[in-house]
Amino acid sequence: MQNDKLTVSGMRPTGPLHLGHYFGVLKNWIALQQETEAYFFVADWHALTSDFADTTLIRHNIREMVTDWVAAGLDPERCVVFRQSLVRETAELSLLFSMITPVAWLERNPTYKEQQQQISGKDLGNAGFLCYPVLMAADILMYRPYGVPVGEDQLPHLELTREIARRFNSFYGATFPEPQALLTPAAKCPGLDGRKMSKSYYNGIFLSDSFEDIGKKVRGMFTDKARLRKSDPGNPGVCNLFPYHLLLSTDEEQAEVRAGCVSANLGCVDCKKLFLKNLKVFLTPLHERRILFTEKPGMAEEILAIGNEQARAAARATMADVREKMGL
Ligand code: TRP
Ligand code: SF4
Repeated sequence: MQNDKLTVSGMRPTGPLHLGHYFGVLKNWIALQQETEAYFFVADWHALTSDFADTTLIRHNIREMVTDWVAAGLDPERCVVFRQSLVRETAELSLLFSMITPVAWLERNPTYKEQQQQISGKDLGNAGFLCYPVLMAADILMYRPYGVPVGEDQLPHLELTREIARRFNSFYGATFPEPQALLTPAAKCPGLDGRKMSKSYYNGIFLSDSFEDIGKKVRGMFTDKARLRKSDPGNPGVCNLFPYHLLLSTDEEQAEVRAGCVSANLGCVDCKKLFLKNLKVFLTPLHERRILFTEKPGMAEEILAIGNEQARAAARATMADVREKMGL
């Protein structure tokens, strides 16, 4: 019923990936492809739940996201990379789950309530948006994984996945596992302006940014706002840049930055230079892997075509079982 070595996760193709995506989720995915049989998909149907009115960018965004994934280190030889909307069995499973899911479960989902309130300028009264977690349960349970690597924001959705699995099993017999979240230890990646790094605020450092653009962005980045001159002692605890040293600099460098900052021996300009140096070391192999995609147009599509075959084989097997159990 449960595959103890299998994990599944997905990401909506809404734009280029930034450092927050890398340290929050992708890094975890890259580790899991070594340790588990891992399925990763482009959640293009999920993107439609909120961005249904204008779909002109969807193909482009899918290609870019797969490029970002592989550049970051996902290896299609080691994991299954596929596109949600091409595993049509998922739509069938989602429909069947919608039969057994009380609307009240969906309405009380905290993410649903929050987004309805917070996202203005978009009409989120559509049924697809309310049913987001039902589709997500189908994405996940289709492959009967033990774990789902996600960010903390997805925990309510995963709880619903488990509840749907439990309810299905209670009606039709043991079929689905109750997968657990595989959380990445919280990595703090503030946006350049101090707000959350987000595609919509355009305040991020993207994995595909050129070093020239990154240099400009970093020079303009907020640090400790109270530190006006180099002779003022700074406070790494409130600095916007310091969390990046925790991710990219060695322990010794971190200690030096901390000491130099609080004693006013290290200025923000030099501190940023160190960060840029380490960021360059980190991003160079990613940029090199990207070149393959520019040299070979159609590479992302090829990767997805292979992954889709593998995902569909697994999905067909699950659906045969589900139809049988439900007497269809
Ligand atoms: N909801 C996820 C997000 O916004 C994307 C997603 C869709 C997903 N289906 C999934 C994640 C299944 C993990 C498993 O990031
Ligand atoms: Fe931040 Fe570095 Fe400036 Fe200190 S020296 S405030 S850590 S940028």
